[in-house]
Formats: sequence, C-alpha cells, structure tokens
Amino acid sequence: MPVNKICCIGAGYVGGPTCSVIAMQCPDIRVIVVDKNKDRINQWNSDLLPIYETCSWPAAITLSEEPGLEKIVFCCRNRNLFFSTDIEAAIKEADLIFISVNTPTKIFGEGKGRAADMKYVEEAARTIATISTSSKIVVEKSTVPVKAAESISKVLRANQKAGVTFEVLSNPEFLSEGTAIDNLINADRVLIGHNDTPEGKDAFEDLCSIYTRWIPRDRIIGTNTWSSELSKLASNAFLAQRISSINSLTALCEITGADVSEVALAIGQDHRIGPKFLQASVGFGGSCFQKDILNIVYICECLSLREVAAYWQQVIDMNEYQKERFTKKIIETMFHSVSEKTLTIFGFSFKKDTGDTRESPSITVCKRLLDEGARLHIYDPKVFHEQIINDLVYATRDPEKVNKSVNIFSDPYTAANYSHAIVICTEWDEFINLDYSNIYYSMKKPAYIFDGRKILDHQDLSLIGFEVFTIGKRIDKPHVKITNGV
Ligand code: UDX
Ligand code: ADP
Repeated sequence: MPVNKICCIGAGYVGGPTCSVIAMQCPDIRVIVVDKNKDRINQWNSDLLPIYETCSWPAAITLSEEPGLEKIVFCCRNRNLFFSTDIEAAIKEADLIFISVNTPTKIFGEGKGRAADMKYVEEAARTIATISTSSKIVVEKSTVPVKAAESISKVLRANQKAGVTFEVLSNPEFLSEGTAIDNLINADRVLIGHNDTPEGKDAFEDLCSIYTRWIPRDRIIGTNTWSSELSKLASNAFLAQRISSINSLTALCEITGADVSEVALAIGQDHRIGPKFLQASVGFGGSCFQKDILNIVYICECLSLREVAAYWQQVIDMNEYQKERFTKKIIETMFHSVSEKTLTIFGFSFKKDTGDTRESPSITVCKRLLDEGARLHIYDPKVFHEQIINDLVYATRDPEKVNKSVNIFSDPYTAANYSHAIVICTEWDEFINLDYSNIYYSMKKPAYIFDGRKILDHQDLSLIGFEVFTIGKRIDKPHVKITNGV
C-alpha cells in the first residue's frame, strides 16, 4: 500500500528535522507534524524556528544551495509540510504515523533516575487507537527501551476499533544535533525493526519505499523490533563509552605530562579504532547518551545482569567524575575559593551548533560554582537567555541565588569584562578567534582561562599573560611574557 499521508506526533529535535527532510525528498507525500505544545507549533509556523540547525551539506538535491533546516522548512511548509496542533485530524487521515515524542528519564517512582518515562509514548499510542478509523503503520521513532514496540502494539490492540489494524515498526533516529540535516540526507544506515509476519514485512517495505527515494537500499537494515530498539541504545552507549574512555586518561595526562590530544591522535590512527569521538572534554551531554545508558543499566538490573549493569554504569560515573574534576580544578586553582568572584562561562549548550541544553555539562559546572558562592556571567551564541535561567533554577532549586548571582550576556567581550576567569564549557568555533588580548586587559588579575573543550591556543594565551588550564594537558608557564596587563 503506498504511503500518501504521514503524521508525526511530536515536533521536537527528532520529529521536526526528520519530517522536514521527508517532505523535501517526497514532494508527493503530505507530511503533517503535530504537537500538543501550541507555542512550539507556532514557532515551526513562524520565521524563527524552535530549533537551530546548521547544515554542512555541500550541495542541494532538490533545493537550491545549502538547504539547512530553515531553507527546507520555508520551502516545503504549506506545500506538503504542515505543522499543526490538530492531532486528531492528522492521525485520522494518515497512512503512516511516526511517534516522535519525548522519553525522558523518570524523575519519580519505580526506576526513578534510570528508566525511560514511557508515559508520552503510551499517551500517543492511546490517542492513535482511539482516533483511527482506518488501518495504519505506526512507527516508533523516539528512543525507547527494548520491547517498547510490543507495549505500543498491546495498547493499540486493546483499544482499536473493529476493522482497524495497526502494524508497529521500530525505526530509531540516529541524527546528531547540529548536523541533523546532513545525517538525515546522508544517513550511514536506516534501521527498521519489524514483525516477522507477512503484515510486518509489508509495512517494512512501505517504509523502505519512502527512504529509498534518497538512501541506497543497501544502507537500509531490516531486523526484528527488539534488535532495532537495542541497537539504538547500544550505538549511543558505544559513542559515550569512547568519550569516557578518552576522558579517563586526561587526569593521568595532566600529571605525567602527556597530551591527551596526541594520545587520541595516536590511538585513532589505528583504523580498527578510528579517530572520531575521541575529543577529550569536560564531559558529554545531550538528551540521549546518559538517558540511553541508564536505560541499559536499568534493564540489566531488572534482569539480574548485575555485572553488565555495572559495566555500563561506569561510563556515566566517569562522565560525572570528569565534570566534577574540572570544576574542582577551577576552585583549587583560584586559591581554593571562588566565593564573590566573577567567572565568565563561554557556552551553555551541550555542544556547538545547537541551542539545546539538555544534560549540558555547563549546567553541572555552573551549579557547582554557584554552590561555592561564585557570580556567573554567561554567554552562549544560541541558547535563549530564558532557557539558561530555567536550567539553573531547576539545577540549584534556588531561584533567589540564580537571580542574584547570574547575568546573561549577548556578547562575549562584555561578559568577560572585570571577571576573574573564563571557563569554556562548549566548543563553539567563535570562541577560538576572539581577541583574547583585549579580553585579558578587561579582566581582573591574575586572569584565568579554563578550557574545558581544548579548543584554544594555550601557548598564545600564556604569552598574553593568562593563567591557563585545560583538560588532559599540563600547560607550562612561558619563558617570556609579552604583555603584563593592568
Ligand atoms: C547523539 C548521537 O551522536 C546520535 O547518533 C543520536 O541519535 C543522539 O545522540 P547528540 O546528542 O546530538 O547525538 O550529540 P553528539 O555529537 O553525539 O555529542 C554528544 C556529547 O558528547 C556532546 O556533549 C559532545 O560535546 C560530547 N563529545 C562528542 C565529546 O565530549 N567528545 C567527542 O569526541 C564527541
Ligand atoms: P526529541 O529530542 O526526542 O525530539 P523533544 O522534547 O524535543 O524530544 O520533542 C518531543 C515533543 O513531543 C515535544 O514538543 C512534546 O510537546 C511532544 N509531545 C509529547 N507527547 C505528546 C503527545 N501525546 N501528543 C503530541 N505531542 C506530544
């Protein structure tokens, strides 16, 4: 059965970009992205989209030059791509429905702090079953625990109307924020988990026929639904594990005089290991890594696989250790106290090229510094000021302190003025080429820079006069000091 109409429930970081690319590649398919959050839908229908996405993709396939998210949306919107809050109408007319709702880690009850909260997925499944008057393919796109497809099927079957059937597929999304459009157009692979029944295989072929419009068929992998669900969790766990592994070596490098970047280069030259995801940092963030590993840990604990759970838990523990170690280093270096001192934080998103702050290491670092009585000046090129305040209020549970001690700035130079230290928490490119001589003169002395992303020229900064600390490398004091500052 050809798919003519698609509905996507959830207009977030996954649903929005994924459906925009599908609409671009399949002009004959009508794609409606729905969300219960009216503000989000209004943003998708406005000139200022709710998420920021760059595009490193070199040439357009169907759109003229560099189709970043904005260009795709502006081109396809109200042509064959629609954003709406009318969830019922969109479900009713769809042949295929993507569930792209959020699956955060549970914050209370059984599995608190570890299990994925499936209430939004369940709610979406119930709505689909209640509203649908014709048979549908339901595709789980959100990252979910293993066996979620089975739970979705159960909810759908228990509530379906006579004559209506549902076939559930698992099609996890592997896009990475900031490069989402490139990842979607040039996907390494598309994974589709399906039931080993004639209906399951037909549904698999129907979804395949959408992707093969632009993805070579040999990159589409068909598996059973459990393998598909576990593969998504395992992919993120493996990537996070690489970061924790390289980060685990940073303290050792700082003490011994080795440089972790040189070690990473040497390791990565082995083609069996490869160079990617070996950039040492203050720690990984983002909505997926921690959540997905915790999910594996929780499943293993529930199945009494204690050793397996402990193995993966270590990846998270190392990440926590790294964030804590970085913050401790800041405090120790600044004469064991940051109380009443002003520290300028460069970067609040969890990585460059996104405005997303979920699980950002910046939040942990800022919280710890606020606990120690520091005043914070924060600058990030893309994160909304309101979001920074909300995240810090949530992390500290102390709105008064945040109000009193945190100032958000719209340019890095004003932010650094009169501060005691600069702390790089996100690797935004623009931080690399700032005029650090000017910044140095505007700061209190001694002026410190703590580079949590290893992106600056530390030798140059030392020569300007900064006291420099970075991750995984001892910075020796320069022999000649060019400027003395004021
Ligand atoms: C990740 C996966 O890459 C993607 O496939 C999945 O679909 C969702 O989760 P994302 O969270 O967008 O994507 O970001 P990613 O680029 O993977 O980075 C995650 C975190 O690791 C960031 O905080 C980043 O700064 C950090 N990181 C990444 C490092 O510290 N070092 C590295 O070498 C790479
Ligand atoms: P992700 O990063 O997985 O895309 P987001 O939090 O960015 O997650 O987006 C998920 C979206 O799903 C949110 O905008 C939320 O409002 C929406 N959502 C959650 N549950 C439902 C539901 N039952 N119906 C419609 N939209 C929903």
